[in-house]
Amino acid sequence: MNKVTFENLKHLFPEKTKISEKGNLEINNNDLSDLVNEFGSPLYVYDENTIRNISREYINCFKSKFENVHVSYSSKAFSNPVLSQILLEEGLGIDVVSGGELEILIRCKFPMKDVNFHGNNKSEYELRKSVINNIGLITIDSFYELDLLDSICNELNTTQNITLRLSPSVDPHTHELTSTGILDTKFGFSIETGAAKDAIISAQKKNNLNLKGIHFHLGSPIFELSPYEEAINYVFEFVKDNYPNYKDIEIFNVGGGFAVPYSVDDPIVNIDNYASTICNTLKENVNKNSIKNVKLVIEPGRAIVARSGIAIYTIGGIKEIPNLRKYVSVDGGMADNIRPALYGSKYSLFSVNKANMPHEEIVTIAGKFCETGDKLVENVPLPKPESNDLIAIPVSGAYNFSMSSNYNVSLRPAIVLIKSNGKVQLLRRRETYNDILELSGI
Ligand code: LLP
Repeated sequence: MNKVTFENLKHLFPEKTKISEKGNLEINNNDLSDLVNEFGSPLYVYDENTIRNISREYINCFKSKFENVHVSYSSKAFSNPVLSQILLEEGLGIDVVSGGELEILIRCKFPMKDVNFHGNNKSEYELRKSVINNIGLITIDSFYELDLLDSICNELNTTQNITLRLSPSVDPHTHELTSTGILDTKFGFSIETGAAKDAIISAQKKNNLNLKGIHFHLGSPIFELSPYEEAINYVFEFVKDNYPNYKDIEIFNVGGGFAVPYSVDDPIVNIDNYASTICNTLKENVNKNSIKNVKLVIEPGRAIVARSGIAIYTIGGIKEIPNLRKYVSVDGGMADNIRPALYGSKYSLFSVNKANMPHEEIVTIAGKFCETGDKLVENVPLPKPESNDLIAIPVSGAYNFSMSSNYNVSLRPAIVLIKSNGKVQLLRRRETYNDILELSGI
């Protein structure tokens, strides 16, 4: 394991994170222990600068290598009205997978032309709401959806732009629970089984649907580059043989899945490498076939927000099992971050209030939920832990809060944003028992 010093971990934290003169962690001049005093613990903290700069890096990297690129943020990673506004200002579109994610964008007046609806089982309500609100694109996942959307559009006397989600049978070598482009997946039309070919024929016959192009998403996080290359070449060959007037294809969407380092032991990820592989492979195919106006779409979720968010917890009970393990229990856990329990995800952590002290005592951070598997981080070093100390888990901005639950009738924590000017904005207040109990009418 790499030594845990702040210098070694810095790249995992938001930009402008440093150790204050008091010896506390701070972001853009905001002492994290002050934020906990104000907003409670656990607390999720996002940093606007980091979100903006990573978004720009993605756009610039891909645009420098392929003329026509659209970056569509995958909002399942973290969905929030203020975040949508930031991404809009940075020139990103957004993809949604539920009526709830769509509702957020409608209510905050996000331009619907830049929204794409994904998901393997969209409901009639979700499809209808999308069409009524003039959504830019719906990515169709099944024959059922093709028929349903066509009949909704027919009834509303309108047409809808669509892409088809294809499954290319390419293994991205990531966790089996997050592999989505292999043969045995619930997502998309399989090229291998012939379903993709039939879907194109069927889509073309629909009077109320305009087929604009294709989409695939291999899984996430993907550390290797070759799965993208393999999938683009394979899907392109398929398109050439099966897509009507393939030279007019307008959208080639390669999904997301770009990895980020979570712990001090993970490799540094270079966005430029993804951009080079994807853009060069697509360019070769496009040039070889004299295709003129194709737009490359990428859908990063994790990569845009993971590093910008941290989770802060307060230490409560400490249990030492001699020669075996020291359990340090905190006030959150699997209800706000299910990833370690679900995928065995590994994180690093750093002390908030003893940030200047050497991190040398090996501990396991246990959550407070009634499950043995509720451990956030195992066998990591901290300064000698004491009750009421604060710890920060970096790279908590993607798929933590968005996958959170009220398990054990717990309350979801507050989320704050440190704005570019250093001011703090509440993104979501901490839940109260009333929020939950009024659902049961008490
Ligand atoms: N596009 C599509 C169609 C997707 O299904 C996904 C993620 C993405 C884009 C964005 O992938 P990203 O760039 O964020 O890796 N809960 C898991 C991740 C599930 C991702 C599901 N689909 C986790 O915590 O790792």
